Amino acid sequence: MATFLFLVQLLFIGTHIIPASAQTETCNWLQTTTESNFTINVTSDVYQANTTYLVTIIDNLPEENVTNYLLQALSPQKASLGNWSVEEIENCSSINTAVLKSNQKAANWTSPESNITSVEIRAYIRLKDSSTLFSTKTLRKEAKTTTAPSATTPNSVSMVQSSSFFIAVIQLPLLLITSKLLS
Ligand SMILES: *[C@@H]1O[C@H](CO)[C@@H](O)[C@H](O)[C@H]1NC(C)=O
Ligand SMILES: *[C@@H]1O[C@H](CO)[C@@H](O)[C@H](O)[C@H]1NC(C)=O
Ligand SMILES: *[C@@H]1O[C@H](CO)[C@@H](O)[C@H](O)[C@H]1NC(C)=O
Ligand SMILES: *[C@@H]1O[C@H](CO)[C@@H](O)[C@H](O)[C@H]1NC(C)=O
Ligand SMILES: *[C@@H]1O[C@H](CO)[C@@H](O)[C@H](O)[C@H]1NC(C)=O
Ligand SMILES: *[C@@H]1O[C@H](CO)[C@@H](O)[C@H](O)[C@H]1NC(C)=O
Ligand SMILES: *[C@@H]1O[C@H](CO)[C@@H](O)[C@H](O)[C@H]1NC(C)=O
Ligand SMILES: *[C@@H]1O[C@H](CO)[C@@H](O)[C@H](O)[C@H]1NC(C)=O
Repeated sequence: MATFLFLVQLLFIGTHIIPASAQTETCNWLQTTTESNFTINVTSDVYQANTTYLVTIIDNLPEENVTNYLLQALSPQKASLGNWSVEEIENCSSINTAVLKSNQKAANWTSPESNITSVEIRAYIRLKDSSTLFSTKTLRKEAKTTTAPSATTPNSVSMVQSSSFFIAVIQLPLLLITSKLLS
């Protein structure tokens, strides 16, 4: 019985190992990463649908220290978004991952046509010493800040207008009374 359970366990462990090892070497680089402070420059921080953004990695690393650069774009639900215009794309746990050579630090990404509030751009640097650095940048939909102040301005104007109208309404009978008293 114990042997049987052991065999069953072995079988299950085996089935877990197979999909993991089926992942490409590139995807395995994403398993152990270190957060870093390199910059991800994007043509705009404002998220818009169906728009192409140029994503550039700014690091101070010499080219010979870098194996590859990897880029991903994720929705708030961590689903892969949009399209990378690059030669090599890997499917890493269902996330489209753009693979750039050590001499390529930029790629164009086109946002999807659907309505999304924000997108997280993730960049990874695979170093020759077998470590992987990562950094992220979030693009957000523009907050409607421009309409808010202009909405309050007409409000305060109409407040002033209505209050002077109110004064006029009060003053009119007073004027009539005063003129009656004078005559
Ligand atoms: C990033 O961190 C390294 C050391 O941790 C530091 O030397 C470098 O100046 C930092 N770069 C930026 C852009 O903050
Ligand atoms: C980042 O991108 C902006 C807009 O494309 C550009 O003006 C700026 O110079 C870039 N910054 C760096 C450090 O390359
Ligand atoms: C997305 O952009 C492309 C190119 O700018 C355009 O041809 C296409 O009609 C756009 N799609 C939608 C749904 O707006
Ligand atoms: C580049 O790699 C060499 C050799 O591994 C190392 O000595 C050097 O510190 C690395 N440079 C940077 C900026 O990481
Ligand atoms: C990516 O791989 C997953 C399985 O790991 C699969 O379910 C999915 O359909 C693949 N996506 C694409 C776009 O090939
Ligand atoms: C991004 O797209 C622009 C416009 O199509 C093009 O000029 C540029 O070379 C592209 N950059 C990269 C890194 O593919
Ligand atoms: C991205 O690519 C897919 C399949 O290649 C295509 O159906 C979709 O329209 C593309 N989206 C954009 C925004 O270009
Ligand atoms: C986009 O989403 C916002 C908020 O969820 C909604 O008010 C708006 O109508 C949506 N627009 C489209 C075109 O679906």
